[in-house]
Amino acid sequence: MKICSSKILKNEQVIDNIYKLIIEFNDDKILPGQFFMLKTLNNEFLLPRPISVNDCDDNSVTFLYRVEGMGTKVMSNLAAGTEIQALGPTGNGFDLDKIKGKVAIIGGGIGTAPLLYLVKKLKLKPDVYLGFRDITYGLDEFEKYSDKLLIATEDGSLGQKGFVTALLDFDDYDCVVTCGPEIMMNAVMDACEKSKAKNNSSKDIKCYVSLEKRMACGVGACLGCVVETKDGMKRVCKDGPIFEASELLR
Ligand SMILES: Cc1cc2nc3c(=O)[nH]c(=O)nc-3n(C[C@H](O)[C@H](O)[C@H](O)COP(=O)(O)OP(=O)(O)OC[C@H]3O[C@@H](n4cnc5c(N)ncnc54)[C@H](O)[C@@H]3O)c2cc1C
Ligand code: FES
Repeated sequence: MKICSSKILKNEQVIDNIYKLIIEFNDDKILPGQFFMLKTLNNEFLLPRPISVNDCDDNSVTFLYRVEGMGTKVMSNLAAGTEIQALGPTGNGFDLDKIKGKVAIIGGGIGTAPLLYLVKKLKLKPDVYLGFRDITYGLDEFEKYSDKLLIATEDGSLGQKGFVTALLDFDDYDCVVTCGPEIMMNAVMDACEKSKAKNNSSKDIKCYVSLEKRMACGVGACLGCVVETKDGMKRVCKDGPIFEASELLR
């Protein structure tokens, strides 16, 4: 992990309030699921904002972000050629060796962002299920790296109308990975637990979730992002953001 001022190579609107930011950054050890704390150099906002790695190569890191409030709004106005403060990569990232067997990747909204780099790095082709409220983005990229790609939109504008969790039978899978709104990730964790109970099975579906908490330091120092686990309180920024569902106290 390092902190540096990085040149913005691209910062463009993808659709609506969704933007793609590419910064110059050299690190060949970035793991899927890791994130960066991003901040403008002229301190327009005090605390850096956590944004996941959407993709990367030897010389650059790509982020996909949704404008939510002041920080991401300011970020969306930064022009190519200017500099941004980047601290990262931070967080544990996914353990790729543990994502095995028949794998389902389930993303919701902007939570699909870190999953692209994950599917690119997996040694297998997973089934990918993506859900959006209405507008969709980043789909063609997923197609190349998935065995099966299914989409759900709440308004029915693309794919099946309704929630993404209705697209799959959890019993079919050995491992499920999810990132998206809390309500969606809870539904995924519940479905994995129910599948085990329904089949009266000793086989666990391994379920990995990428948690989101508001963050201040992003490096484990302020304890502002703790979550309750069976092993006590853990910091989402440092011990996570990737957790196995069975570790969490919900
Ligand atoms: C590990 C991690 C990875 C993330 N990766 C991405 C990503 O790849 N792309 C992306 O668009 N966003 C991502 N986020 C969320 C992003 O950090 C927040 O949307 C951003 O910090 C909001 O800042 P703001 O100044 O624009 O909004 P603020 O003015 O701070 O807040 C605006 C609204 O967003 C809500 N909000 C703020 N922070 C969070 C948060 N962490 N989780 C949920 N809601 C929040 C607030 O409650 C408020 O309603 C990630 C968050 C975490 C913790
Ligand atoms: S944000 Fe400071 S400990 Fe996680």
